[in-house]
Amino acid sequence: MEANVNLLILNGTVCDPANRTYKKADIFIENGKIKKCSPRIYSGVNEAKIIDAKGKIVVPGLIDIHTHLREPGREDEETIRTGTSAAAVGGFTTICCMPNTNPVIDSVSGVKFVFATAHQEGVVNVLPIGAITKKSEGLELAEIGKMKNAGIVAISDDGKPVMNANIMRRALEYCKMLDIPVISHCEDANLSALGEMNEGYISTLLGLKGIPKQAEEIMVARDIALCELTEGKLHIAHVSTAHSVELIRDAKKRGIKVTAETAPQYFSLTDEEVKISNYNTNTKVNPPLRTKEDVNAILRGLADGTIDCIASDHAPHLIEEKEQEYKIAPFGIIGLETTLPLVITNIVNEKILSLSSAISKLTYNPAKILGLEKGTLAVGSDADITIIDLNKTKPIQKFESKCKNSPFIGMKLTGFATTTIVAGKIIMEDGNIVST
Ligand code: DOR
Repeated sequence: MEANVNLLILNGTVCDPANRTYKKADIFIENGKIKKCSPRIYSGVNEAKIIDAKGKIVVPGLIDIHTHLREPGREDEETIRTGTSAAAVGGFTTICCMPNTNPVIDSVSGVKFVFATAHQEGVVNVLPIGAITKKSEGLELAEIGKMKNAGIVAISDDGKPVMNANIMRRALEYCKMLDIPVISHCEDANLSALGEMNEGYISTLLGLKGIPKQAEEIMVARDIALCELTEGKLHIAHVSTAHSVELIRDAKKRGIKVTAETAPQYFSLTDEEVKISNYNTNTKVNPPLRTKEDVNAILRGLADGTIDCIASDHAPHLIEEKEQEYKIAPFGIIGLETTLPLVITNIVNEKILSLSSAISKLTYNPAKILGLEKGTLAVGSDADITIIDLNKTKPIQKFESKCKNSPFIGMKLTGFATTTIVAGKIIMEDGNIVST
């Protein structure tokens, strides 16, 4: 391992929502930690590599609470190496990977595999999420306590719902004791069965089988009720409907310990996109793209704090898999390299959220939910840092991910990460991975 070079980030605007900081300041990094953060650092600095951040924003390294890496099992789609490289290009310094690999990460050996591979191959921090149930089959709890001891930060059967309410209840109770969140993929599988897109006018027009919004909302309501019963920590993944937002808003008002995330597609696209794109399967995601009213409600939920985080829900699938008829193509789109520009373009530049609030949904808030000592630029913290050029505009074209299944290809977006630093080491510069 090469020794860490000290770094000095000069002339940038530091945006650190965890410490309510938004000011011109320099940052000195020594031995992988933030040593100083103040205006005009000249003295008391040992030899350091200088990064000029003039005209740019310096934020805590972005944290993705919801990533799908495909290793083990589908290394043809994504490996820990390529997924973490995509993360670094997108400005993420920590990603939390979902357990729906093959085999499912439902045991200590699986968790150890992810940590060991990430240590060897990964270029950003990887924190595994363990399965709720064995093989994510929804029948029997996985070895959650042992996986927690091995380092998981949450549990989830994401990709599939836990249909049995009693099992979900036990998972919430158990995780309350372990102090980790249960991340719920809210979908009533009977209602959504064989569905391809949002149920409504467009699905009827296109002749595609619909997934009603209620498939999500019923489970959001159920899990909030179970959260109230158990007083466990519930985190709702990929919120996509207006009524889900209302249910979460109401639960929070009643003091229930629920948190929530959405993904960029749910505030950037509607089900119209399936028609406009002429059945492009890169519009097929689960939950499906909804309507304009839902998009507006998601934006309001982000603005008033009902939705705590924005996650990539990076879900790579091969072109060969996506280039099948709509019914057969898998659900999911890649997101690590488009999340930040979609947030800047559609949320910050549209004045839905201030830059600080938007950054907190990508840093401090996910860190708080997972109990991580990250997402801050406080002195003494790990030097995980992202530098953003808010004025950089370019069309989405190439990806570091092994897969290209994005509905945003060709779209001109603004606000990209230009430097990604992990533990004081420069990993990405101007879109290129520079360190391994
Ligand atoms: O669209 C999706 N793709 N939604 C999920 O919940 C799972 C994911 C995947 O793993 O491909």
